Amino acid sequence: MDRNTLAEWMKSESLKVHDLANQMREHIITIPTGSRTAWLEELCKRFDHFTAHVRRMMSIEEEDGYLLPVVEVRPSLSKQVEMLRREHDELRELTDDLSKRVKSLKADHNLLLRDTCTRLQIYMGHVQRHEEHENHMVLYTLTQDIGGKD
Ligand SMILES: [Fe+2]
Repeated sequence: MDRNTLAEWMKSESLKVHDLANQMREHIITIPTGSRTAWLEELCKRFDHFTAHVRRMMSIEEEDGYLLPVVEVRPSLSKQVEMLRREHDELRELTDDLSKRVKSLKADHNLLLRDTCTRLQIYMGHVQRHEEHENHMVLYTLTQDIGGKD
């Protein structure tokens, strides 16, 4: 990806992650007290949607060399870039772990459902902080029109 494409793509992906995370948060904010079968199916669906997006995004980011245009413009950021790239490996591991847990949930679980929802909130926080860090790095390095927009 060239510099402008990367900057634009990063902004639009950021919005998608934000939307998908909100959809997940809306769903897990309350665990129903009655039948949980449909709720659990929906949780799996939203989780799969969110994680598929995160995995695809990380693969695309790594395709032509992770944040290469940033390092070309600011070689001094190479350590920070490498730290973010390593976070992809950690996010993949967290995603795999949570995926196993989510798929093993049963509608009559109580504590496991609560615990998983708490872990999902923390996990989405990690994804969003990672993504915001990348986004800021790209925007501050590769675009000149910052400061004029929110
Ligand atoms: Fe990333």
